Amino acid sequence: MSGLTAHGMLAGLDEIAETGRDAHRGGYSRHVWQAADLELRAWFVERAQRLGLDVETDRNGNVWAWWGTPGPDAVVTGSHLDSVPGGGAYDGPLGVVSALDAIARLQATGFTPSRPCAILVFAEEEGSRFGIACLGSRLMTGALGADRARALVDPDGVTLAEASARAGLDPAHLGTDREALDRIGLFVELHVEQGRGLIDLGHPVAVASSILAHGRWRLTVTGQGNHAGATLMADRRDPIVAAARAVLAVQDAASARPGTRATVGRMNIVPGGTNVIASSVQAWLDARAETDEETRALLGEITTRVDEAVAENGCSVAVVEESWAGAVHFDPALRDRFSAALGGVPALPTGAGHDAGVLAASVPSAMLFVRNPTGISHSPEEFASAEDCVQGVEALEKLLRSLL
Ligand code: GLV
Ligand code: MN
Ligand code: MN
Repeated sequence: MSGLTAHGMLAGLDEIAETGRDAHRGGYSRHVWQAADLELRAWFVERAQRLGLDVETDRNGNVWAWWGTPGPDAVVTGSHLDSVPGGGAYDGPLGVVSALDAIARLQATGFTPSRPCAILVFAEEEGSRFGIACLGSRLMTGALGADRARALVDPDGVTLAEASARAGLDPAHLGTDREALDRIGLFVELHVEQGRGLIDLGHPVAVASSILAHGRWRLTVTGQGNHAGATLMADRRDPIVAAARAVLAVQDAASARPGTRATVGRMNIVPGGTNVIASSVQAWLDARAETDEETRALLGEITTRVDEAVAENGCSVAVVEESWAGAVHFDPALRDRFSAALGGVPALPTGAGHDAGVLAASVPSAMLFVRNPTGISHSPEEFASAEDCVQGVEALEKLLRSLL
């Protein structure tokens, strides 16, 4: 990544390149309020203070860095620093580093903002620790209730209430933060593109048009725990075999509905022993489609197929919704204005969720995407070239200059 610094920009990506590296999975594992995330937060505070910004953490653990007096009608930009398990270097950090660089460039030209401006770093965008994506923005806007959030549990059995308290927050104060939200006049998030849209269009930068509806469901497949040697094949109710059939059913259901996407990316086998037929399996389903109705219909079809699939092994399945995000259509006037201001860059839909999508229900919100030449994301192979990242910073700087 050192080519980036040659442009005097994006040095931040180099500075955090070793933080949260995951030797086991590859890439980065940076989960909210754990060591790497705390280190990244400290790095951000130091970087923001170097620009003379005033840093504060809100009651949901989102970090704000203010250029000028915090106030209403602020232009806010930013993204997140957490990652999926074994994620890439750009998903989240590119938006934060680009925001720091865009403000640094404005300052370097002697520009004085005529309205408040802030960089906002959201907590737990990926939902990798507590299961709910865009946790910080959902809490702020009230899309996720405080009681439900406090009770969320991480894989080690630590509740969100405990984890947030250890990070210095007061769990009693988690939840809707009108005061914070009311300060935002407009939010713009720069993000690495996570698909092939900009490769196919041959453009380095785009504005976002929409986000697919998406949700997460926990599937618990229950069978009969038993002895691997003493149990005849005909006598088994093996939930791992049933879960394997369920995964195929998920794939078949989504493949039969063009444009929809469904994934099982995580499983927990209970109890998990080589000579043990498992008693249950938890599997997490991520399902997405263009509209809320289509996503619900996809889920209905998946549920029917999964019920049938697990029954073939004498097992049962319970499906619980863990989170839901309706389709987002970014403000078309703002989208078109930004596209025109950037010389007519294309508008691109995305299948990935973002805090800007959550905020869009409450405040005018927009996104910029920077081309990812691998077309791969949520993987160490996610990438953006130095040249394209620089174009992203310049685009963000241009927008901030016109808005401020
Ligand atoms: C986050 O990147 C998501 O789309 O789940
Ligand atoms: Mn992501
Ligand atoms: Mn992201």
